[in-house]
Amino acid sequence: MIDEVTKQRIIDSADIYEVISDYVALKKRGVNYVGCCPFHNEKTGSFTVSPAKGIFKCFGCGKGGDVVHFVMEHDQLSYYDALRRLAERYHIKIEERELSARELQQRSERDGMLTLNSFAQKFFAEQLVHSDEGKSVGLSYLLNRGMDIDTIERFGIGYNPGGWDKLTQAAIAAGYKKEFLLKTGLSTETQKGTLVDRFHDRVMFPIKDSSGKVIAFGGRIMSADKKAAKYQNSPESEIYHKKMTLYGIDVARSEAVRADKCYLVEGYFDVISMYMRGIKNVVASSGTSLTVEQIQMLRRMTPNVTVMYDGDSAGIHAALRGIDLLLKEGLNVRVVLMPDGEDPDSFAQKHTTDEINEFISSVETDFISFKANLLLESAGKDPIERSKAIQDVIRTISLIPDNITRSVYVKSCSEIMKISEHEINIGISRLLRGVQQESAYVAKPKPITPEQPRLEEGDIHKVTTLDKLCKNDELELVRALLQYGTNKISIGGNDISVAQYIIGDLNSEGLSLYNETYRAIVQEYSDNINQTDFDPLKHFTQFEDGNIVSSVADIVSEKYELEKIWNETSEPRIESEHITKLLNNYKLRRIVIRIKQIDKKIAELTRESEPDHNEIFEWMKKKMALNELRSLLVNAMGRSAVQ
Ligand code: CTP
Ligand code: MN
Repeated sequence: MIDEVTKQRIIDSADIYEVISDYVALKKRGVNYVGCCPFHNEKTGSFTVSPAKGIFKCFGCGKGGDVVHFVMEHDQLSYYDALRRLAERYHIKIEERELSARELQQRSERDGMLTLNSFAQKFFAEQLVHSDEGKSVGLSYLLNRGMDIDTIERFGIGYNPGGWDKLTQAAIAAGYKKEFLLKTGLSTETQKGTLVDRFHDRVMFPIKDSSGKVIAFGGRIMSADKKAAKYQNSPESEIYHKKMTLYGIDVARSEAVRADKCYLVEGYFDVISMYMRGIKNVVASSGTSLTVEQIQMLRRMTPNVTVMYDGDSAGIHAALRGIDLLLKEGLNVRVVLMPDGEDPDSFAQKHTTDEINEFISSVETDFISFKANLLLESAGKDPIERSKAIQDVIRTISLIPDNITRSVYVKSCSEIMKISEHEINIGISRLLRGVQQESAYVAKPKPITPEQPRLEEGDIHKVTTLDKLCKNDELELVRALLQYGTNKISIGGNDISVAQYIIGDLNSEGLSLYNETYRAIVQEYSDNINQTDFDPLKHFTQFEDGNIVSSVADIVSEKYELEKIWNETSEPRIESEHITKLLNNYKLRRIVIRIKQIDKKIAELTRESEPDHNEIFEWMKKKMALNELRSLLVNAMGRSAVQ
């Protein structure tokens, strides 16, 4: 057990930012850091780390605590095991006595299974390099397939010898209980009630969770026997859920976070061969189509996922469906099609790191263009097939939750499919209107009522500064935040607070307010959104910054504009539509301003003595994307376009 003094030393040494950024990509915001919560499915950063306070908190799912709690929660450890993990990381020595047999027995089932798996992994690894059979059969097979000893050790690969019960016997001799041998699936029970090994004569790949614990095994047969299954795998168990597993994630995680990109391949050998070429941000879905859980695991590391397919894979079309899921979850998906007859494993073995990277960057295509090309190619000239293909691509584009990204795809697909962006947009808005989006934070475009202040064409010319131009919309948002921030509304079936919705949506669109005071209020609110019993009015009226206090007083003492607009009854009741309206209106205004700015920029560039046409073209592309976005938004709001 760990004594109090050591415990305190561990807590004091562990840097919460450092520890959490091993698992979550964090961005600095004010004095805090934000990222996507690793404990629930989200696309916007509700997860906040405060190094100053030494705590983390997710205002989406409510999980929070200090650095030890984070490790407990993330790696599913007991309090003391989490302390041990941190002690390891910060090289703090813990004097611990061996656990007694009784204590061992008292450990949870999970721990028992994990401990047994770890024993089995060591046993297999030992067999591979020290037994004659392991060396001559298993090791030579792996070396023949291009592995080296360091890599074999890094991935913990081993060998399960022939015979019926070598592992089972070794485990029993070491004191492991029959119950765990059966529960992990390492042994099976014969009719006579004796235990025998599940795996025989196989090279053993330990399958680990993201913290490196062995949760299962995949055993590859070495003979070319067509009748025998190539891989035999551990059964599903308390500790192994195939749909929540990505092979290699323990090794890939830190590099995927650092590089902000992760490769997705099919098999164990693909992961390992890429690793040997120094490309370490690679995980395998282990031959099945992707699950939502796996996608969430990917997103916790990075939103940028590149899928590597065999060039001749018959499964490409089937896999396309899996990728639609990735898009829907807000990931940026790219595809690398391997040359004919190659998989990432064989390709990596034939090429140097530079060649592999060069190859990837030359063929890597965004998923939608890839899909559009592929479908159109197989549709050929048949008009009905073509129209089906186009519909399919439009449906895929409509899955992308982010407006700006979506409009970029509209543009590129219009070129590929030779139909106008306008037509694609019509298709998309039709789908968007029909489909209820599930995302919690996307402001769903809703028709605005006539009472809503209109974005008049003349606005742009009447006022000069951006601040003034946006002030009213920003004021309404801040007012909603201050007065109704803690009220609950229902978004896509989830109850969240008005503040979570507003701040989450502004963040996800990368928008910060123009007005300095309003911006400060939003920031301060966001920094405090996690406090239980947070009372915005009280907080802001007792604030140290006098400017803010007086603005807040102004805002809340003005006539209740919002209620006037929103409320027919006297009882203030906030619906998500009200906030959506405010947000969409504001976004629309920002888009219009941005377009004007770009126009100005283009005009300036054109006036130069030697205009840079490439740059001008880049700006025009941006402007077109914004125009599309604007019409999408306006269309969805049920209004005519604003100039
Ligand atoms: N797989 C499996 N069971 C099988 C076949 C495949 O579990 N009977 C999983 C394994 O995780 C495997 C992945 O699907 O790694 C991809 O299959 P495949 O490409 O056939 O296997 P590789 O690992 O690439 O093996 P090899 O290169 O030796 O054929
Ligand atoms: Mn292979």
